[in-house]
Amino acid sequence: MGPLVAVRFAEGYHSAQATELHFLRQREASLEILIDEATLAKRVAELGEELSRDYLGRTPILVGILKGSAIFLSDLIRKISIDCEIDFISISSYGNRTKSSGSVQLLKDLDRDIYDRDVIVVEDIVDSGNSLSYIKKSLLARGPHSFSIVALLDKKERRETPVYVDYIGFEIEDRFVVGYGLDYAERYRGLPHIAVLDDEDLADDVTDVGTPPSEDVTFPGEFGEGAGSRES
Ligand code: IMP
Ligand code: MG
Repeated sequence: MGPLVAVRFAEGYHSAQATELHFLRQREASLEILIDEATLAKRVAELGEELSRDYLGRTPILVGILKGSAIFLSDLIRKISIDCEIDFISISSYGNRTKSSGSVQLLKDLDRDIYDRDVIVVEDIVDSGNSLSYIKKSLLARGPHSFSIVALLDKKERRETPVYVDYIGFEIEDRFVVGYGLDYAERYRGLPHIAVLDDEDLADDVTDVGTPPSEDVTFPGEFGEGAGSRES
């Protein structure tokens, strides 16, 4: 590719990218905001102060549940004025669906031992309570000195398995929310606020990758006409 062609190619690439970004931003901007950035920041600061008071003189471990709690945890720890450690745990998620399947699996365990430590589990949202009750049982079995849970959001009315949440950011109604770490099919995590994805938004979601291919689909490179071609 000569230099001129390379420049034209790069221009085309950037404008295609810009168009895509523009549509994404437009879509995001059309979502209803449930909790704005300033309200989130204020509440996270309050939770940080409360934890700093309650754990004064100790060095708790904040255990983030990947991936949804990553943004909340990183803002929260900067509002905690005592020394803290961080660790992460990952459990099987909803995949691309919006409802819990009920069964939970551990995908990534803690790096460190929590025996005799003060453990604070940091979660983005409590819904059925299945995830947290599983995590609580698993972590309590390791003999921590203390155990508590902080959750940014709580959909109390959806609880199937009771679990006590010590610190709650906001109680919300039964609506599917995204942003500030929370996703739908791995998207929207970067929104600075909490927005609502209603059924219409979900139906509009043409890029949803959650539907399994039907059995008669032929993949490129397998067999049949057009095998090996890439026309996506
Ligand atoms: P639970 O086991 O049903 O309590 O599920 C909790 C997990 O499901 C959360 O950590 C989230 O990852 C996910 N989740 C539940 N409700 C929502 C939602 O409204 N938006 C995005 N993720 C959600
Ligand atoms: Mg989560």
